[in-house]
Amino acid sequence: MEVIIRPTTQEAVHLTARLIADAINAKPEFKLGLATGATMEAVYADLAAMNQRNEVDFSLVKTFNLDEYIGLPPEDKNSYRYYMNYHLFRHINIDIRNTNLPDGMAKDEVAEGERYEAAIRDCGGIDLQLLGIGSDGHIGFNEPISSLAGRTRSKALTPATYAQNSIYFNPPESMPRRAFTMGVGTILDARRIIMLITGARKAGIAAKALEGPVTSMVTGSALQLHPRTVVILDEAAAAELTQKEYYNWVFANEPEWAQYR
Ligand code: F6R
Repeated sequence: MEVIIRPTTQEAVHLTARLIADAINAKPEFKLGLATGATMEAVYADLAAMNQRNEVDFSLVKTFNLDEYIGLPPEDKNSYRYYMNYHLFRHINIDIRNTNLPDGMAKDEVAEGERYEAAIRDCGGIDLQLLGIGSDGHIGFNEPISSLAGRTRSKALTPATYAQNSIYFNPPESMPRRAFTMGVGTILDARRIIMLITGARKAGIAAKALEGPVTSMVTGSALQLHPRTVVILDEAAAAELTQKEYYNWVFANEPEWAQYR
C-alpha cells in the first residue's frame, strides 16, 4: 500500500482524477470500478472537465459500480444509477451501455449478485477500482463483520451508514436498509485500487483502516492485503496517521511519483 497526503482536498481530488485519466490513456479499453458518495463528486467533476478538454477518452471504457440500494429504481434521485448519470456519465463521452451497476429492483437477489460477478469476469476483470470509505470503515457496503472473501450480494446496512446517508433522503426514514454490494473479495480482485479519503471526520477511521490490524470490523483494512493500492488523503483526513513522515518522503522522492508532485 502507498499513502499519499496532499495539503488540500482539491489537490487530493485532482491527483485521484489524474491517476485515473492516465491509466485510461494507457489502456483505452479500460475496465473502471466506480464508487458513489459525497467524496467522489469532485473527482467526477474533474474527470468530466478533463474529458471536455480532450485529456481523457471514455469511448471504449466500461464501468462497474460498487453498489446500489435495494428497492430504488434507476430514476429515483437517491439511486446510485441516478447519481452516476447525474455526476459523471452525462458529462463524458462514455457509451451508457458500457456502464454497469447492480439492479436495485432485481427480484432474485442471489441471482443478481451472480449476474454482476459474471459480468465483471466476462470482460476480463476490473483494471482499477476507485473507493471511498464509510464512517464505520466500510468499502462498498461491506459493513463490519462482512467476509473479507465475500462476493457481490445483498447486505443490511448498519446504523452508522444509515446516519451517514439518510440525510440525502426525504424523509430520511425512506432510505433503504439494504443494498447490493461487490464483496471485499470482488474488490481485492481489481488489478489496482485507489482509495480517496477527505475531511476531518474520516481521520479516525482512516488511521484504523490503514495502520490498524486487518479485520472484518473495518473492511477498508483489507486493502492492506492488496498488492497495488494507493490511498490518497487530504491533510485533515491524515491527521491521526502515525507514519506521515514516511509517506511524505516516499511521495517526494520515489521516481514513480515525480510527474505528480
Ligand atoms: C458508495 C460507497 C461507499 C462510500 C462511503 C463514503 O458507492 O462505495 O463505501 O464510498 O460510504 O461515502 P462519502 O464519500 O459520502 O463519505
